[in-house]
Amino acid sequence: MTDLTELQADLAARVAAAADLAALDAVRVEALGKTGSISELLKTLGRMTPDERREQGPKINGLRDAVAAAIAARKDALETAQLDAKLAAERVDLSLPPPPERRGRVHPTMQVLDEMIAVFADLGFSLAEGPDIEDDFHNFTALNFPPKHPAREMHDTFWLPENEAGERKLLRTHTSPVQIRVMQQGQNRTLPAWIAQGQAPPIRVIVPGRTYRSDSDATHTPMFHQMEGLVIDRAIHMGHLKWTLDQFISRYFETPVVETRFRPHHFPFTEPSAEMDVKCDRSGKDVKIGQGDDWMEIVGCGMVHPNIIRTCGLDPDEWQGFAFGFGIDRLATLKYGMPDLRDMFASDVRWLEHYGFSPFQAPNSSTGLS
Ligand code: DAH
Repeated sequence: MTDLTELQADLAARVAAAADLAALDAVRVEALGKTGSISELLKTLGRMTPDERREQGPKINGLRDAVAAAIAARKDALETAQLDAKLAAERVDLSLPPPPERRGRVHPTMQVLDEMIAVFADLGFSLAEGPDIEDDFHNFTALNFPPKHPAREMHDTFWLPENEAGERKLLRTHTSPVQIRVMQQGQNRTLPAWIAQGQAPPIRVIVPGRTYRSDSDATHTPMFHQMEGLVIDRAIHMGHLKWTLDQFISRYFETPVVETRFRPHHFPFTEPSAEMDVKCDRSGKDVKIGQGDDWMEIVGCGMVHPNIIRTCGLDPDEWQGFAFGFGIDRLATLKYGMPDLRDMFASDVRWLEHYGFSPFQAPNSSTGLS
């Protein structure tokens, strides 16, 4: 006959000695498992006489309850200790400085584009866009470049392979083709207004976008950005053009006084045509606009050639206008001092971290552009 007191003392000692949950569970299985010592004792009750059972039953059941309770208490204690150890080991030190956060930067071209849009929006211009892949008609012919004319070669054009229709498309060499698209779509009222970028006169649009020429040096990249401007209305003259560009330069460069001059030039799509120069100081490393007495060419412009107005279905005796074309990247380098245009499109994150802008610095003409 097993000595119950001895068994209880032995089990109690082993429960107390169990160092972790696995050891404790082993003790539980040995005592209370299917073939455990206490389970075997409980099985003997069935073979006893009623008198023996009345005497032994409460003792064996009491032993089982006592051991089960001891195991539960020890389990609780071990779990608490385990949690305490974990909490101590995993303590978060809130006084540590947070790891540096890498935030994206806005590319200067995109920042400057937003600045330009802010200025022209104030002047009542709306935005239009056109495709990067153009056809000869929109890029050249409709803009008054006669076929085989040497002016076509001025733009070192990227031509695409001939398509099934025998036509060669091209990567647009300037944003001027969108002048044609805006005027022609403005005549075509079949497109819903929310798709049509066209305007019927009076027209005031700016057209930012990517442009392409086979050219690469410190001031030219094969892909660059231009912003076209087009105004068509009644009795528009060069005074309007000059005022608009002066306004733009003064607001964009944030200088109250800008001296500009117009030099005669040639563009097939304007007559007369000019390049506008801005007075600047080029003696230092960075060009300073609005100071010094040097001149720098900043934008091509002119009065829209009557042929173009006619090609787009408008009567040039009724409608006149002016147009201009800026290099956006060049305006960015002039304002923010990047020395080499090619770096702008080299996709070097270090460059972007240095010259880029915070996404929270959105240009806005009421709080200042830059
Ligand atoms: N398209 C010209 C170029 O890429 C720039 C230009 C000049 C645009 C005069 C105009 C303009 O609209 O009137 O060089």
